[in-house]
Amino acid sequence: MWTILCIACIVLVIFLLKYVFGSSGPNPFAKDCREPLREKVYDKKEKNKVLKQGFLASRVPDNLDAVVIGSGVGGLGLAVLLAKVGKRVLVLEQHDRAGGCCHTFTEKGFEFDVGIHYIGDLLEHKPLRCMLDQMTNGQLQWEKLENPFDHVVLGPPENRRSYPIYSGSTRFSEELKKRFPGEEKAIDEYLRLAKKTGRGAWFLALLKLCPLPLAKLLIHTGLVKHLSFFFKMAPRSLTDVVNELTENKDLRAVFTYIFGTYGNMPKDASFAMHSLLVTHYLSGAWYPKGGSSEIAYHMIPIIEKAGGAVLVRAPVNRILFNEAKEACGVSVLKGQEEVHVRAPMVISDAGIFNTYEKLLPKELQAMPEIQRHIGMVKHGEGGLSIFVGLNGTKEELGLRANNYWIFAENNFDELVDKYMNQEREEASKKIPLLFVASPSAKDPSWEARSPGKSTLSLVSFAKYSWFEDWKDDKVTNRGADYKELKQAFIDTALDVVMDVFPKITRDKIEYVDAGTPITNTHYIGAPEGEIYGVDHGIARFSPELNAVIRPQTPLKNLYLTGQDVFLCGFAGALAGALTCGSVILSRNLHLDAIALAKRTKYMDKKLKEE
Ligand SMILES: Cc1cc2nc3c(=O)[nH]c(=O)nc-3n(C[C@H](O)[C@H](O)[C@H](O)COP(=O)(O)OP(=O)(O)OC[C@H]3O[C@@H](n4cnc5c(N)ncnc54)[C@H](O)[C@@H]3O)c2cc1C
Ligand SMILES: *[C@@H]1O[C@H](CO)[C@@H](O)[C@H](O)[C@H]1NC(C)=O
Repeated sequence: MWTILCIACIVLVIFLLKYVFGSSGPNPFAKDCREPLREKVYDKKEKNKVLKQGFLASRVPDNLDAVVIGSGVGGLGLAVLLAKVGKRVLVLEQHDRAGGCCHTFTEKGFEFDVGIHYIGDLLEHKPLRCMLDQMTNGQLQWEKLENPFDHVVLGPPENRRSYPIYSGSTRFSEELKKRFPGEEKAIDEYLRLAKKTGRGAWFLALLKLCPLPLAKLLIHTGLVKHLSFFFKMAPRSLTDVVNELTENKDLRAVFTYIFGTYGNMPKDASFAMHSLLVTHYLSGAWYPKGGSSEIAYHMIPIIEKAGGAVLVRAPVNRILFNEAKEACGVSVLKGQEEVHVRAPMVISDAGIFNTYEKLLPKELQAMPEIQRHIGMVKHGEGGLSIFVGLNGTKEELGLRANNYWIFAENNFDELVDKYMNQEREEASKKIPLLFVASPSAKDPSWEARSPGKSTLSLVSFAKYSWFEDWKDDKVTNRGADYKELKQAFIDTALDVVMDVFPKITRDKIEYVDAGTPITNTHYIGAPEGEIYGVDHGIARFSPELNAVIRPQTPLKNLYLTGQDVFLCGFAGALAGALTCGSVILSRNLHLDAIALAKRTKYMDKKLKEE
């Protein structure tokens, strides 16, 4: 008995090592691809030549190695990884420009980002930064936000408390301790737990990369929770953990405010997810120089250089399968006509729900395994975005390179519960949580591009059902009542903004509009207006779900990438691409990225010494 158990253990360890360190395919991070910085292109027309290449059958390259549905960072990122090892990849995007949540749009001369406000972990020579340098051939540049990068604002106008959040492991706690004397122990323990939990997240990738039976063995033997503090903490709610640490209501709020970056109120949030966000921003926060369209703009040429293409206005209406139920291409709707694109591999960045419920033939969708996967996830919360164009420079308007998280009270669980569970008219009169940032103030290239102007981005949550009535109307013509409802949300949000930022006044506002959950459906293909894809509540962090929801689907030659197969956020969606690339290329790209980061650090150091 014991011998068998011993042998089984040894085999298990060997397998694990093989899947952690295994590497049989080509390595996209084999060499340092950074090129000298070229002159920045900010001219819209020039950029659109890259970002807005419309779909035509004649533009589809021959002999494709893969077709990717969706041009978010999960889709483009994966295409770049494959292109770097010489694969010819076609990326298809339903919207009229590439980028997904990283796309930008311009109204009345103001350029707005959709889904990038700040990204963490981008210190030079860290794996994420190094990877992005490679994936844009060294052309994408990052600008650090100021420190403090976030401000948590709590309470009603007559009793507002503002708490700055600093990056830096020591600074983070030191500054909090100044504001919360007597709470030193709670603050230290909070950070210790967050760091320890966050460090265990490598197991998430492991569960998705090792063979499923092995993953199941790790789960059923309970080894997962022994080996990874991440999964040990995953079933615990944020409220639960934080309430044990302190009685101070404001400190509890400060410990939890960043739930806004994944969308579950503290009592539904997993401490594991929370720990990832806290540690993500511990080394600082960054914004892409030139705005978030720079991301796609510098990735696309790499895909093209390998013979691939990124085509927009290319809604995929179904995935094609052969008789053996293997994916073999996609169908694109061109007007009323279907254009078929053949490829030996189909990778979807369109999210689990779109992929399984909209793009599969009925009989495949009905497969028990597909149904089981769909049953494990649920739609995440809808998002509300308000875009404001202002007349004035950042100095005139008092705008800086930071973010504000403004809450009407410090009891977030009740606050969100109440807000999300009321009728839309009520909700539009009081928005109790609001993210406010000025993208223009974060971008050093802005002043030259749009002198004398500024932008604000406001973000909150909103129920899909509040806006569902208008979902089938044309996006440009949704009627007066829809406009009225949007205006009510806008006015309420602006009142909050003008109260917190006294230099912003009505007469400075040149442009304002709101994007609702149904706007998200139209422009980023979010089926129920989700802000962060599938829900990130505690259930998302069960080891079972993380082992089962992986890049391979139950259907041969069909893969998933992006936020739904890993986690939300720019870095989460990119990790989805890295994991999917690992499966396709049969090697652990997470480790390759880490190895390259070490190598470039060494090389850069030597270069400096010379
Ligand atoms: C308002 C907002 C603010 C955010 N702020 C931040 C932030 O500050 N920092 C951060 O790290 N993250 C932020 N995020 C999250 C982050 O942007 C996303 O998690 C990430 O970019 C998702 O990438 P993705 O590739 O998985 O999906 P997406 O970017 O959503 O890409 C999916 C693409 O698939 C396309 N598609 C769908 N169906 C089809 C089809 N049938 N045919 C063709 N194409 C299709 C869609 O149009 C879309 O372009 C924010 C998100 C939002 C919405
Ligand atoms: C912007 O403000 C300046 C003065 O601050 C004013 O002269 C100008 O007319 C304003 N522009 C618009 C479009 O409102």
